Amino acid sequence: MANVVVVGLLWGDEAKGKIVDYLAQDADYVVRYNGGNNAGHTVVVDDQVYKFHTVPVGILNGGVSPIIADGVVLDPQVFAGEIAELKERGVDTGRIKVSANAHVLLPYHRLLDSLEESSKGDKKIGTTGRGIGPCYADKISRTGIRMSEFIDPEVFRKRLNDILKRKNAIITQVYGGDPLDADAIYEEYKAYAEMIAPCVTNTARLLFDASQACAGIVFEGAHASLLDIDHGTYPYVTSSHCVAGGACIGTGVGPTMIDRVIGVVKAYATRVGEGPFPTELNDETGDLIRKCGNEYGTTTGRPRRCGWFDSVAVKFTAAVNGTSAIALTLLDVLDQMDTLKICTHYEIDGKRVREFPSDVEVLAKAVPVYEELPGWKQDISGISTFDALPANAKRYLARIAELVETPICVVSVGRKREQTIILDPEMLEM
Ligand code: IMP
Repeated sequence: MANVVVVGLLWGDEAKGKIVDYLAQDADYVVRYNGGNNAGHTVVVDDQVYKFHTVPVGILNGGVSPIIADGVVLDPQVFAGEIAELKERGVDTGRIKVSANAHVLLPYHRLLDSLEESSKGDKKIGTTGRGIGPCYADKISRTGIRMSEFIDPEVFRKRLNDILKRKNAIITQVYGGDPLDADAIYEEYKAYAEMIAPCVTNTARLLFDASQACAGIVFEGAHASLLDIDHGTYPYVTSSHCVAGGACIGTGVGPTMIDRVIGVVKAYATRVGEGPFPTELNDETGDLIRKCGNEYGTTTGRPRRCGWFDSVAVKFTAAVNGTSAIALTLLDVLDQMDTLKICTHYEIDGKRVREFPSDVEVLAKAVPVYEELPGWKQDISGISTFDALPANAKRYLARIAELVETPICVVSVGRKREQTIILDPEMLEM
C-alpha cells in the first residue's frame, strides 16, 4: 500500500479534511504531522457534520488508526474536549496514538500569544490566539514540555514550576499582565495527562514498522504551504512546517518512504489573518464567493478573505511540495459566476513576473494580471463524472492544470463524500 501526503497549496482551509477522509476509507493510518488546534477541518459524513482541530480526520473510518505525531503541539484541554465529544457521538477513540515527543501547549502559551499580538498593534499577525507560536518558540529554544514529561506527574510538576517562573516574569514585567498559578494549572492538567497517557507512544517506530508491513498511511497536513514557517509569506505564517516535507520532519518517516503528494486547492483563493493576498476581492464578487463557499473559519469563525485563483502562487507551492497531482475543491461555489478570472502573472514595479516573491514587502506590491474565462452558470453539485461537467468548467480546470503545470486528479463539488469527481483513480489508490 501507499504513503500519501495531503497538503494545502495556499493559506489553509482548502477542504483538505474531505480529501483525507476520502483516502482514509482505504488507509490503515492517518497522521497529523504539524500544527495544533489552530487547524480546523470540517467533514460531512451521512449528513453529520464533524469539526476537527487536533484529532486526525481519519478517526471517522473504523479501520484507521489516527496518529498525532512528533511535529504537532497538543493542547491537552482541547484534545480532551474533542475526545469527549467524539465519544458522545459514538466514535471509537481508543485507537488514537500520540507521540511521546509531541510538545504540550499550556495556558501560558495562549496568554502570551494574545499579549504578543496586542502589543504588535497594526503589525499583528492575526493569529488564531491558540498559543501556537509561543509553544513552538519554546520547542525551538529547548524549554518546552514534551508528552513523555507531561504524563509523568513528578516531572511535569517540576518542569511546570521552573518554566512558569520565567513565563510569569515576562507576563508581568514585559506585558503588565497577571501571573498564572502553577498549582491551578497542575491540578487541571494532571487530569488531562492521566487521560492521554495510554495513547502516548513512540509513533515514529510505529509508523516505520507499519510502512515495512506495507500499511497505507495518509499524512494529513494542517494549515497550508503559504503558512509554512520557511516557505510561506513570512512573518504572516504559522510556526510549523506545513509543506509536504514537514510530513517527514514531523513524523520521523524518511523521505524515501513517501509515495505521493496530493496538493489541495480551492477553485478560488482564501486567506484568514493578516498578510498580502494579491488576488483578494474587496467587492461584491468577493462577498458572493464568501457567501456561496460559507467562507468562515472552522476554528475562529472569522470571515475569510476571498479572491480569484492565483496560478502564480499555486505553481510555486505545487513545486515546493513536489506535488504529484492536485485535488481541486469547492468548484461548485463558482456556479453563479458569469465570468471567472485566473491570475496568470503579477506586475511588480512595472515588470511582469511568474515567480512568487519570497519577500512579503515585494508580494504586497504585486498587481494581479488576469485571464478571463466564461462561467458555466449551472448547478454542478450533483455531477459525479468528469464527462458530465459543463464544457466551461472543464475548460477552467484544464487552464488551471496548464498554468500550474500539475495534473488535477480530483474535483470536489460539495461537502459530502459522494460529491467527489475522480479524474485519476491511481493517484487516490492507497
Ligand atoms: P497561528 O497559527 O495561530 O499562530 O496564526 C498564524 C497565521 O496562520 C494567522 O494568519 C492565522 O489566521 C493563520 N492560520 C493558522 N492556522 C490556520 C488554518 O488552519 N487555516 C487558515 N489560516 C490559519
